[in-house]
Amino acid sequence: MSDGIKTICCIGAGYVGGPTMAVIADKCKYLKVIVVDLNKDKINSWNNEDLTKLPVYEPGLKDLIKRCRGKNLFFSTNIQQSIAESDMVFISVNTPTKQTGLGAGEASDLKFIESSARSIAEFAIGHTIVVEKSTIPVKTAEVIKTILISSQKGSEKIPEKSFTVLSNPEFLAEGTAIDDLINPSRVLIGGESKTSINALVNIYKNWVSEEKIIKTNIWSSELSKLTANAFLAQRVSSINSISALCEKTGADISEVSKAVGMDYRIGRHFLKAGPGFGGSCFKKDILNLVYICKLYDLNEVANYWNEVLKINHWQQNRLTNIIVKKLFGTVTNKKIGILGFAFKANTNDTRESPAINICSNLLMEGAKLTIYDPKVKFKDISNSLKNLKNAVNDSFKIEENVCMSSSFEQLANGSDAILILTEWVEFKEIEWLKISKLMRKPSWIFDCRDIIDINHFRESDLNIWKIGFGSNMDNLK
Ligand code: NAD
Ligand code: UGA
Repeated sequence: MSDGIKTICCIGAGYVGGPTMAVIADKCKYLKVIVVDLNKDKINSWNNEDLTKLPVYEPGLKDLIKRCRGKNLFFSTNIQQSIAESDMVFISVNTPTKQTGLGAGEASDLKFIESSARSIAEFAIGHTIVVEKSTIPVKTAEVIKTILISSQKGSEKIPEKSFTVLSNPEFLAEGTAIDDLINPSRVLIGGESKTSINALVNIYKNWVSEEKIIKTNIWSSELSKLTANAFLAQRVSSINSISALCEKTGADISEVSKAVGMDYRIGRHFLKAGPGFGGSCFKKDILNLVYICKLYDLNEVANYWNEVLKINHWQQNRLTNIIVKKLFGTVTNKKIGILGFAFKANTNDTRESPAINICSNLLMEGAKLTIYDPKVKFKDISNSLKNLKNAVNDSFKIEENVCMSSSFEQLANGSDAILILTEWVEFKEIEWLKISKLMRKPSWIFDCRDIIDINHFRESDLNIWKIGFGSNMDNLK
């Protein structure tokens, strides 16, 4: 059943590496699973006795860690030993957009992939199957292979070693990662070596039915991952563009989404209008796609995908402009409450969250922000907003303009406006009549996630703005 695969290792203990390996360990008790990272603090957090201190928040993750950690799942900084004892090594490191040099602002920075490949080349013993789990540009497997092959020759010091490379992109979404891993829509494996592919298939077969396991060539596998994210992001930009038209024409985006999505050819998922997509991947993966298209002189294709990003940015700025206009054209020194800073519900991740851009815009306009998010810490918010200092002025201090709130009441107290930026389920249960009494008048609620029930506001004197909601609020009151 295990094809001689007894120990596997994953380089990168982040949002993908940690949850993915926890599920593999839980489903394959015969395997020893080691997750390694250069970041000591992160590994310490994964090993923390207090499971509320894990570095990643995902529903269901704590239980998995409790069941497997110390039994067949280990978190370690000992990269050398972990690679040496593993038959299969997953690379699950970050692949951010390059900040400087060739391809800056578009291409993926492969420095972490390269350093992982070099570590594998150096420390592996015998035959090792290397699995790309990170999202990478098409043809990256070639780079990994070249690095690995250059170390393949035996020497007196290094025992003979050999490698095969597979592509096995991850499709989990944050907030539902454990469910997605346990019930994946598909598992994609690209590669040339049938034996290695089968070794990986045999791991997944422990809980995924074989019809869901797709085997392709390695380049199709790499490109499918980028394409899937681009298509998902494109749907969000499409519905967001229509949300603006709804507001002008009297249509309601939730009704339009429902009517459009009931066509089985279109489907109902990913048609929820909002403040623009966030998360660490959509933007970087589309930029990467754009870069690759340009490399192959496919400029029209590059421009097409770039528009998905432009609409996303435009949507965030559009919302800020609406907020400022409704508040008499100025938010200087006004207290604005922010409900949610994570890029979506059920995660503590703030990377590329639309809240970053919207809060930055408001701070540049002089607003004072009070933020409530059930899982995001002030240090992550402050870190996300650190570039603001240059945009405002040298003396601008985040802690003087942004504070955290531990309750809705504290957040509402004296606020001119409250913005809903993440769709946390607890925001749907807020007692708005109570909140309304604490706010400065006239007070505004901006529902940028279309989650509140307008009926809750009939009795209150709050002014409501809902994304994509073109119906006349006065008629509803
Ligand atoms: P992350 O930043 O949360 O974690 C990556 C980890 O890799 C970091 O902890 C970093 O310290 C570690 N690392 C980097 N170089 C290393 C090295 N040489 N040796 C050891 N550790 C090293 O990133 P993530 O969100 O888990 O994403 C990882 C990859 O998976 C990316 O390519 C991403 O595009 C892809 N992906 C992410 C998601 C998601 O939801 N976050 C979903 C699918 C795919
Ligand atoms: C996304 C994909 O859904 C995963 O399949 C993929 O593996 C992952 O990227 C990745 O490669 O990193 P993720 O970014 O975690 O997952 O979360 P999504 O649920 O896709 O949401 C992304 C953003 O789009 C969020 O800001 C979300 O609020 C927004 N969104 C999503 C909408 O505004 N409307 C929708 O209808 C759906």
